[in-house]
Amino acid sequence: MAQYTEEVSRTFSEYLLIPGLTTKACTPDNVSLKTPLTGFGRGEKPAIELNIPFVSAIMQAVSDHNLAIALARNGGMSFIFGSQPVDSQAEMIRRVKKFKAGFVVSDSNLTPAHTLADVLKLKEITGHSTLGITEDGTPNGQLLGIVTSRDYRPSRDPLDRKIKDFMTPFDKLITGQAGISLNEANDIIWDHKLNQLPIIDEKRRLQFFVFRKDYESHKEYPNELSDGNMKLLVGAGINSRDYRERVPELMEAGADVLCVDSSDGFSEWQRDTIQYVKQNFNGFIGGGNVVDRDGFLYLVESGADFVKVGIGGGSICITREQKGIGRGQATAIIDVAAARDEYFNKTGRYIPICSDGGIVQDYHLTLALAMGADFIMMGRYFARFDESPGRKIMINNRYLKEYWGEGSNRARNWQRYDMGGASESMKFEEGVDSYVPYAGKLKDNLDQTLGKIRSTMCSCGARNFSELKNNAKITLVSATSIVEGGTHDVIRKDSDM
Ligand code: IMP
Repeated sequence: MAQYTEEVSRTFSEYLLIPGLTTKACTPDNVSLKTPLTGFGRGEKPAIELNIPFVSAIMQAVSDHNLAIALARNGGMSFIFGSQPVDSQAEMIRRVKKFKAGFVVSDSNLTPAHTLADVLKLKEITGHSTLGITEDGTPNGQLLGIVTSRDYRPSRDPLDRKIKDFMTPFDKLITGQAGISLNEANDIIWDHKLNQLPIIDEKRRLQFFVFRKDYESHKEYPNELSDGNMKLLVGAGINSRDYRERVPELMEAGADVLCVDSSDGFSEWQRDTIQYVKQNFNGFIGGGNVVDRDGFLYLVESGADFVKVGIGGGSICITREQKGIGRGQATAIIDVAAARDEYFNKTGRYIPICSDGGIVQDYHLTLALAMGADFIMMGRYFARFDESPGRKIMINNRYLKEYWGEGSNRARNWQRYDMGGASESMKFEEGVDSYVPYAGKLKDNLDQTLGKIRSTMCSCGARNFSELKNNAKITLVSATSIVEGGTHDVIRKDSDM
């Protein structure tokens, strides 16, 4: 006979937090949002800790290098999508690792033989007025001079004037040596009243520009998530099919952590993948997705450094409709968090869990964390921002962004859903192609979301996530009290009356 779970499968909207005592020491500024990403032993520190409890979904529409840079600068981490050839995935990892706050690879470069007309044309394309003049016109060629808008007068100078006749030549330039810190570069900029400082290597090759105007913006990112060499942290999704080819290249490119990306991770293929990484590389790997203690323990015993939880709750997901598998996200987190705590008490090893998918309201985040999630993976949330890869489109006077599931025909990420041996004709969609409302810059939205989490934590009397998990009081809500929770019995001024 089948086993029946008595517990109803519930989701975040069915719960609320009951405030606890807010002490005077518990102010939003005093709340720490740090959380472990990888497992650790009792009394030890995790090898990787996030500064905010968010990671971005392993999806084509979400996690490319641009979003990864923006999120890591704000304290979280992206897992670059694996449903692409390994070369391009590795290149995205490299681009994140190469990013140095305030150090910009020059995107506008010409040679001394080019003309003023070329300068004006390039300026129109890039929108940038500082040009690197290199021997071969490449961003890292030998630096021969720079051109800025102070060097020419478009209305008077002949358009065929050669750059060599009006650029600021190398011997008149102040430069910085590769390896200097941003603070040192800024000191040079201030001492010499410069607007930009070219950074060169020992062979005089142009490496970066540091711009005066960028310094203030760098100071806006106190949470930046970087390694000991000041490089941003980045993760990568892998699958349990081509990992022998993919993983070595991703590790070589500098991936800090891997995650097996599967809609149902309670499988022997997943165990093989995790063990391959643990045996062959000195790296970190998460597994998933699972929704109960059995799945969690299986992946932990296979060697997973964290476990991802969630089946069927994603905004673009039709897995529950197609296959009838899954579990309400709140119930899944509560169950797996209990298994994680028991495992810790028994073995002294703490394996973080990630709540993946199904976040609709910002308060769901605090609930997931209070229920025991160590960090949260989101797709829809990040797909709305400028930095995500999806196209921004105007429809009916509203800006929208494209957001498509990895199990949709558009992404064709069949490995994520592969149960082994299925022929092409047996494949079916588990996700949809959709739009989400465009929401602007990642940082602006994130700051607001984090503000809400901090404020809710203060209401619960918690200054960090372990206090939140230990002290939160959580209640189920009835259908009628959900109605009470929204605006009611008034006519809103912003409604169509
Ligand atoms: P969201 O944050 O609710 O949009 O959910 C994102 C999560 O949905 C991802 O991290 C994946 O776990 C999951 N997911 C991504 N693509 C698909 C799909 O096509 N079908 C089902 N689940 C998906």
